[in-house]
This record gives sequence, structure tokens and C-alpha cells, in this order.
Amino acid sequence: MEILITGVAGFIGSNLSKGLLERGHSVVGLDNLSQGFLLNIEEFKDHPKFQFVEGDVRDDRVLDEIATGCDLVIHLAAFKIPRYSDALDTLLINSMGTKVVLDAAVKNKVAKVMIASTSDVYGKNPAVPFSEDSDLVIGRPEVKRWSYAISKMFEEQLVFGYHERHGIHAVALRFFGGYGPNQHLTWWGGPQSVFISAALDDEPITLHGDGMQTRSFTYISDHVDGIIACAEKDDANNQVFNIGNTNEITIRDLGMKIWKMIRPDSKPKLSLIPYETFGKYEDVQRRIPNIEKAHTLLGFKPKVDLDAGLRKTILWQVQRRRALGMETPDVPIERSLP
Ligand SMILES: NC(=O)c1ccc[n+]([C@@H]2O[C@H](COP(=O)([O-])OP(=O)(O)OC[C@H]3O[C@@H](n4cnc5c(N)ncnc54)[C@H](O)[C@@H]3O)[C@@H](O)[C@H]2O)c1
Repeated sequence: MEILITGVAGFIGSNLSKGLLERGHSVVGLDNLSQGFLLNIEEFKDHPKFQFVEGDVRDDRVLDEIATGCDLVIHLAAFKIPRYSDALDTLLINSMGTKVVLDAAVKNKVAKVMIASTSDVYGKNPAVPFSEDSDLVIGRPEVKRWSYAISKMFEEQLVFGYHERHGIHAVALRFFGGYGPNQHLTWWGGPQSVFISAALDDEPITLHGDGMQTRSFTYISDHVDGIIACAEKDDANNQVFNIGNTNEITIRDLGMKIWKMIRPDSKPKLSLIPYETFGKYEDVQRRIPNIEKAHTLLGFKPKVDLDAGLRKTILWQVQRRRALGMETPDVPIERSLP
């Protein structure tokens, strides 16, 4: 297939492109490099079936041009939960970008569009595990963290609206907490990136709130397997899927685990960051997916457990930091390599 990926230089986009190229697909990748890195696509940038286009997903001329001849668009370009800025980029990039992508897809007769949604759309619904038909329970507009979930709910509605009006096949993927190589090294990339960096720097691991909130973390190769299954299988068409791992862990235990993998001989340094630091904030207390639908329709089953995934991620982060000239100590898991 000829596949257009937006957000190709980001975490999921770069890993997904590599997976699709390995399966013989052709990839045109768009990114404006606002949160992504050329280093992430370095490994395959010269692949004969890969083309990189630097541009903004809201630019309809660019999208119209690069969607030509594509069979599928996988739309990943987005901004995430605004913690240290206002909500406008998240709201406008995600909503306008998705509209531009869908218009270009319709104009170019692309058969199918898959959009990246998020586990955050389940919001404050306390009834875990979440299945695709669970209610989406979102908080007040004064709490800007909800701008992300709302933008993704809009993306979901939009892609199914285009399906109904224009007949294009639509898939909405609700990803649960991805981590692994090519993750952004700040909070943008999630807790793994910042916790690993803190432990490498011998600085305290910062936990938001009391650290007792739980998440289910998904190693990137499992996310990629789920996305590729949705891309290749018609059973995925016009469906919403949870793509994630069902194992639940508190953020505090995640921090302790990462510290012990990097500095087994020292007591973990943890510090609590009050939610007020982010202005008005509400956290999600528990987040676990029900993945029966993806398993039944697509054969999706996560394969990488948290310990194995964290080992690979720590090794990658050590290498990335060194490539960026950042001082980084040796870690025991590095020494235990053959
Ligand atoms: N990583 C996860 O676990 C996770 C969880 C839930 C949802 N998602 C969603 O999956 C998608 C990919 O996430 P990710 O973790 O790879 O994020 P990421 O930030 O690493 O990648 C997104 C990419 O989009 C690019 N981008 C942003 N705005 C753009 C614009 N206006 N024009 C062109 N490119 C632009 C960025 O430069 C970046 O390379 C996003 O839509 C995200 O909301 C990810």
C-alpha cells in the first residue's frame, strides 16, 4: 500500500514507518518538526520506499499534494495535554489538522483514514477497564488538560462524519500510554522519559499528585502491531479500538522500578509535585483498557511486558542522550549485555 503518515518524525510515527517499510509498504511522511526529530527517521530516511516532507498538517496545499495516489492515511500529527502552555495549540492543531487531512483524503479518493485518539477520552469515568462503548466523562472547561481529550473526541466524530457523508473508511485508535525508543525526552513523551532522565542524572523522580494514580503502559512495538493490523485488515474499518496493554501500575511504582533498574544500589529519590503547579488540574485516577475487541477482530495481543520494555527503553535513552552530547552514566543493564 501507499501510506501517508502525518507526524512521522514523532515517537509513534517513526516506529510505525519502520514497521510498515519492513512489511513492503511505501510511506510518505509529513512532519513540521515542532515536537519530532530528524534523528527519529535517520535509520530509514534513504529507504527507496520512504519520502519525508517537512510541512504543517494544516496546510491544505501540501496535504492535497502528498495524499495523491495514497491508499491510506494514518493521521498522528497532534499536540498533547498542555501542562506548561495554554490549550490553543492542542485544540486548533488537532481539530483543523484533522479536517485538512480528511478533505485531502476525500479529494484524492483515499480509501481509508485512521486517526490517533487517546485513552484520555475516557476521562473521569471510574468504571475501569474501559471498553470502546464506555462513556467519555470529561471535566470542566476551566481545566485545560481536557482540551486534549476534547480535541480527540472531535477528531473521532469528524472521521466518522466523513465516513457517513463521503464513504471513506474510518478507524479511530485509542492508544494507552506508549513508551519506547524515539519517545520525546520531556513530559511530552510521558513519565518514562522524564523518570529515566531523572534517574540517570541522579535527580529526584517527580510524581504528580501523590503518585498513586495508575496507568497501563504499552511498549511501542505493541502499538505498532495494533496500528498495522488496523491498516491491513478490513475488519477494522469504521471501528474504534483500544490499543494498549492491560497491566496496571501506579506512577509511584513505575518511578521506583525505573530507579532500581538504573541505580540498583541507591535508595530511590522521589519528590511530589502538587497538581496546582499546572494551574487548575484534574488527574485520571485509574486507566486500564479492555482490549477484547481488538483481540477478536484483529488478533491484537500485547507481547512486551513492562520490565522488558523498560530495559529496551532505558538502553535507547542512554544512547540517545550520548548522541546528543548529554553526560550519561553507565547503567547496569548496559553492562549485562553480551
Ligand atoms: N504516545 C502515546 O502513547 C499516545 C497516547 C495516546 C494518543 N497518542 C496520539 O498518537 C499520536 C502520535 O503520538 P506521539 O506520541 O508519537 O507524539 P509525538 O509528539 O512524538 O509525535 C507527533 C508528531 O506530530 C508532529 N506535529 C505536531 N504538530 C504538527 C503540525 N501542525 N504539522 C505537522 N506535524 C506536526 C510533531 O512534530 C511530532 O513529530 C498523537 O496524535 C497523539 O495524540 C499517543
